[in-house]
Amino acid sequence: MAKKVMIATVKPFAPLAVDGIRKIMKGAGYELQILESYPDQQTFVNAVSEAEALIIRSDKVTREVMDHAPKLKVVVRAGAGYDNVDLEAASEKGIVVMNTPGQNSNAVAELVFGLMIYMARRAYSGKAGSELKGKTIGLQAYGNVGRNVARVAHGFGMDVLAFDPFVPAESIRKDGVEPVDSVEALYDRSDYVSLHIPAVKATIKSINFPLMSRMKEGATLVNTARKEVIDEDGLKEMLEKRPDFRYVSDIAPDCKDELTAGYPDRVFFTAKKMGAQTLEANVNAALAAANQILAFFEKGDVTFQVNK
Ligand code: 3PG
Repeated sequence: MAKKVMIATVKPFAPLAVDGIRKIMKGAGYELQILESYPDQQTFVNAVSEAEALIIRSDKVTREVMDHAPKLKVVVRAGAGYDNVDLEAASEKGIVVMNTPGQNSNAVAELVFGLMIYMARRAYSGKAGSELKGKTIGLQAYGNVGRNVARVAHGFGMDVLAFDPFVPAESIRKDGVEPVDSVEALYDRSDYVSLHIPAVKATIKSINFPLMSRMKEGATLVNTARKEVIDEDGLKEMLEKRPDFRYVSDIAPDCKDELTAGYPDRVFFTAKKMGAQTLEANVNAALAAANQILAFFEKGDVTFQVNK
């Protein structure tokens, strides 16, 4: 019986990425089912009964989804963050969960600069803005995205700081980036702070008023990570008390309408989460996901498993 692989993407991959997955699956003799732009979670739940493998993006693989997918063996999150997958439920059910680290990080890093320039040039209004050259950018976490942001920031002539307790200072330093030893120091010294932390227990709501209020005069906070890491009450307080502060993100907070109405020149949110939404990132992550599924079924390869 042909293995059944399902792509479930509420925010679809570029067609070329889907074609690439199709080709890989066809070559392996697997069957591919595609569920794109589905209207609600129930549609996803109802569609998974035959799936042995899932390729997803930010799609929510909850316990309920897994309960309805009795044949499911492997879930590959085509991307970095896997806070959208219930890892505990997956482990209980013996389902392997993987991500595809690094495959979409350049796209996210490039968007960081798109957002910074948009804010620095006053939303392209023609008003006098400012330049990135000579400014300091602080990277909160130095993983794949942080590294790409550092590389591009150097091209702009920015000074780059990074705080990441999980990365040895030496490996940060060798990229020409200054490691700082506390998150507070990062906020104290940066003109731009760019978030690259995952949404986990320790980071959720961790970007709060006491931390943000340390930011320099005229500083901008850039969030292409997860909306959950922001304490929204703290963000509101910061915007209210610090008229020099700006916040920009491709993952709008729940209170986005209030902020956009209250501070139109100081906040900006893209219509959709779009850091990884490039043809190149889609193709890279999609093909990596498809190849990882093959390697898993054919060779038992679990290299990128995240629920060990
Ligand atoms: C990731 O974690 O890989 C990024 O946040 C991209 O998410 P997306 O695939 O939903 O765009």
